[in-house]
Amino acid sequence: NIQACLFDLDGVICDTAKYHFQAWKRLADELGFVFTLEDNERLKGVSRRESLDIVLEVGCVVADEKAKGRMAERKNEWYVESISRIGEEELLEGVKPFLESLRKAGIRVALGSASKNADLILDRLRIKGYFDAIIDGTKIAKAKPDPEVFLEGAKAVGVEPSRCIVFEDAVAGIEAAKNARMKCVGVGRADLLRAADLVIPSFVGVDLSLLDKLA
Ligand code: G6P
Ligand code: MG
Repeated sequence: NIQACLFDLDGVICDTAKYHFQAWKRLADELGFVFTLEDNERLKGVSRRESLDIVLEVGCVVADEKAKGRMAERKNEWYVESISRIGEEELLEGVKPFLESLRKAGIRVALGSASKNADLILDRLRIKGYFDAIIDGTKIAKAKPDPEVFLEGAKAVGVEPSRCIVFEDAVAGIEAAKNARMKCVGVGRADLLRAADLVIPSFVGVDLSLLDKLA
C-alpha cells in the first residue's frame, strides 16, 4: 500500500518555468544573445548552476567561476522578484483538491525539489500546511537524477521507498524516483515521460484511486 506522496515543485505544483525563462532571458539579453523558450525546456529539473552552464553554452559565452557566480545570483534576484508576487491563482489546476484528499486519507505528503526558493513559493501559494516535510535545494547535495532528494523525503515522513509515489514533470526527476526504487507518476506529456509508471496530463480529476493503480 502507498503511504506517502512526494511532489516535485516546479512544473508539478506550479508553473514557474515561465519565470525562470524570463530571468534567464534577461541575462542572455544583457550578454547579447538569443535565448528561446525551446532552449528553456532543457533547464527543467536542472539546478541553478547547471542551468547557467546550459544558458552560457547556448550563447557560446565563456566565463570564469567568479563571473558565473555573479550571473547566477543576478538571475536569482530577478526570479525571486517575480515569484514574490505570485499567489494562489498560480497553483496548477487540481493540485489543491488532490493534496486535500491525501491529507484526509492519512497519506504522508512531502516536497522533493531542487529549488532553493521552494519555501517562498509554497508560502505564496498558501499550501505549506499540506506538507509533512519539505526537502529542497537548500537541504540536498546531489541533484536529480540522484535519488537523494526523494530518499530524504521518505525518511523525513518515515515511509519505506517502495510505499512512496513521486510526482514529476522532468525526465531527470523520474530517473531520481526510479533510482530511489519508488513508484513514479509523470505529469505532462506521455511521449516525453515514458520512464514513469504512469503519466497524467495534469491533476484535474485525479483522486485517491490513482494510488490503487500503483499499489
Ligand atoms: C527546479 C526547476 C529548475 C531550476 C531548479 C533550481 O528543478 O525545474 O528549472 O533551475 O529547480 O531552482 P532555484 O529556484 O534554486 O534556482
Ligand atoms: Mg519539475
